[in-house]
Order: sequence, then structure tokens, then C-alpha cells
Amino acid sequence: MVTVGSTGAFVAAMFTLLDPGDEVVIFEPFYGYHVNLLKAMGARLCHIPTIPPDWDIPFDRLEEAVSDRTKAIIINTPGNPHGKVWSESDLERLLDILIRYDLYAITDEIYEYMLYDDRRHLSLASLPGAFDRTVTISGFSKTYNMTGWRIGYAIGPEPIICKMGLLSDLIYICAPTPLQHGVYEAFQMSGSYFDEMGKAYTEKRTLMCSTLEQIGFNITWPQGSYYVLADFSPLSSRLKGFGDDAAACKTLVEKANVGTVAGNSFFNNPDDGRHYLRFCFAKELPVLQQACTQLKQAFL
Ligand SMILES: Cc1ncc(COP(=O)(O)O)c(C=O)c1O
Repeated sequence: MVTVGSTGAFVAAMFTLLDPGDEVVIFEPFYGYHVNLLKAMGARLCHIPTIPPDWDIPFDRLEEAVSDRTKAIIINTPGNPHGKVWSESDLERLLDILIRYDLYAITDEIYEYMLYDDRRHLSLASLPGAFDRTVTISGFSKTYNMTGWRIGYAIGPEPIICKMGLLSDLIYICAPTPLQHGVYEAFQMSGSYFDEMGKAYTEKRTLMCSTLEQIGFNITWPQGSYYVLADFSPLSSRLKGFGDDAAACKTLVEKANVGTVAGNSFFNNPDDGRHYLRFCFAKELPVLQQACTQLKQAFL
């Protein structure tokens, strides 16, 4: 179904699948909209922290956390805010748990075309036995650089998509028709669009990550998406203004004119994010170059 952004697909999927009292599992660090929308809908949340530096999934812990109330698991690959890409074996282990405990997965795959180091994106729904319990959501905001255009989509088993259609109609009536025509035009572009986009993001990732490393941030280079979650603790001992994530965020604006998102936005316990800032490198190259120069001038 065509939806009002992938966000519209997420809302419709959650309203469709969840009954009062149902619990949803979400991995940390998370994308804030997933959590805040679920909270607004009154869902119970079960947070499972992933393990840095590679944000590995603690499958034993996940299995222990599943209860009678658990209805669904949210996954986001490639992930915001850290760029983790779920591997085939991650997805197989997740599917095993979904089947054994009769759960649904909602997979947010909006960064599927932003991948690095020859990594491949794999949709959970494409694994044998997964389709019937997976709602795949995505959209065009990132792929075609049109974040204000509210067009996305969901793919899933027919009975679920039919109910999602009713709910989407109730909440939004429909995805804006002129924008649907606009996206249709984008579909006519050749495959080279994706190759060029991949090359451009690879260059931007290198620029952003190597700048942060030179300054002293501790980072894991993202496997996908266009964010890097940077640990600034090595800077706190030699520089003022890096006491916690809110202070660091302010310091970067004041000293380098660079905006970031404070780490607490991605964790249930804000303290778990207090050493992190999320940088976004989805900017025109000259703007990103300028930002990196300003960061170096201020903090090297
Ligand atoms: C993981 C993730 N999902 C969804 C969205 C929003 O997508 P859309 O514009 O299609 O609603 C974002 C935007 O930042 C995102 O990071």
C-alpha cells in the first residue's frame, strides 16, 4: 500500500497489529519516532540494548525478554542513528524467534540504498517463512532526497495490509496524489542514479568519519544510512564544554556552527546516551567540507 511517508505506514501498521496491553520490542539505540509514536498509542515498550562498538544484537537477552504480552519486534536496517546493517544470520536468528513465539516484525528499511563497503541490504520478508509475519515499510524521502514529500509504502500479508488500508484512510484519507505522480517520475530514472548516490555517500562518509577520528571522537563507521553515532568521551578530558551530550551539542553549535543530535534522544535511559552525538552527513559536499573544516578549526 502507498502511505503518507514511511511514518504513515508505521502508524497504520502499529494501529493494526496492536491491542491494548500489547508489548513491542525495540532495540537501542533507536529512532525516536518509533518509540514516541508507540508511546503515544499507549503500547508497552521493551527496550533491548544492542552491544557497541558494532551494535550486535543480544539474541539471548531478546529471547528472555519475550513474554505472553509481546506482539511485535521493530527492526530498522540500515539503522538510524548508528548505521548498523542486519546481516543474513542476524535476520535468520530473529526469524527463528518470531516463529517460535508467534510474533510479528515491522521492518523500517528506509535507508536500504545507502550502504558501504559492498554490504548488501536484505529484507527480512524475503527469507523463507518470514513474509506472513512481517510488515516491511519504506519510503522515498531518503532515496530521492525529498524528505518533505510524504510518500512511503508498506508491503505485507494481504489481511494485514487491508486493515492498514482502512486505518490509513481514517487517519490520512490518502497519500497526496500529486506527490504519487512525482514519485512515479522518479521511478523512470536509470539504475545509474543509485550507483552515483552510493559513490557520493561513500565520499561523504569518509570525509565525516575521518574528520571525527582526527579530532579524537571514538566512532564505528556506519555500515549503511547517513549517520554516525560518535562517542566524544576522549575529548572531555582535554576540552571544556563536553560534560554531557547536551553540553557537547551546544559546544559544537557555539564553537563550530555545527548542529548534531544529543545522544539521549536514542536511548530509553537518557544517561546511556550521555557520551554520544549523532552527526548526519546527508549534506551537499561543499557544505559538509565547510562543516568539517569548522570542526577541525574548533577542536583539533
Ligand atoms: C529510520 C527512519 N524511518 C523513517 C523516517 C521518516 O521517513 P518518512 O519521511 O518516509 O516518513 C526516518 C527519517 O529520519 C528515519 O530515520
